[in-house]
Amino acid sequence: EQTPLQLTINGKAQQLSIEPRVTLLDLLREQLHLTGTKKGCDHGQCGACTVHVDGQRVNSCLTLAMTTEGCKVTTIEGLSDGDRLHPMQAAFIKHDGFQCGYCTPGQIMSAVACIREGHANSPDEIREYMSGNICRCGAYANIVDAITEVKK
Ligand code: FES
Repeated sequence: EQTPLQLTINGKAQQLSIEPRVTLLDLLREQLHLTGTKKGCDHGQCGACTVHVDGQRVNSCLTLAMTTEGCKVTTIEGLSDGDRLHPMQAAFIKHDGFQCGYCTPGQIMSAVACIREGHANSPDEIREYMSGNICRCGAYANIVDAITEVKK
């Protein structure tokens, strides 16, 4: 059974029809083909699926799409301004904040929220805030450097 859903994704109003059980992650990836948001664990352990809902970061794998009725969702695809990278994207490149890149969209969405929410005042504070975003390549030190630079 399908249910209607209206929300704004990356600045664009969407009128959708979804199954009530579908997660925001699967809606983004499977129905809207916004595949920048990654599925790692699909149960809230890795942070690869991090997006913003009304400016708050969420694990989209733990969020039922129907709970985002009327919300503004931002994914990694919505962060850049046309061809101009968001400063956090540019800082990740400059500081080699990734290796394989799979966790990177989630890392960057968390990193932007980290600064916006005022949790980037020291490397320790950044590490604490970012602790839900796992990087199997171990780029953690470079990620902290990137966030520290953007915070300046
Ligand atoms: Fe959502 Fe891992 S895929 S936290």
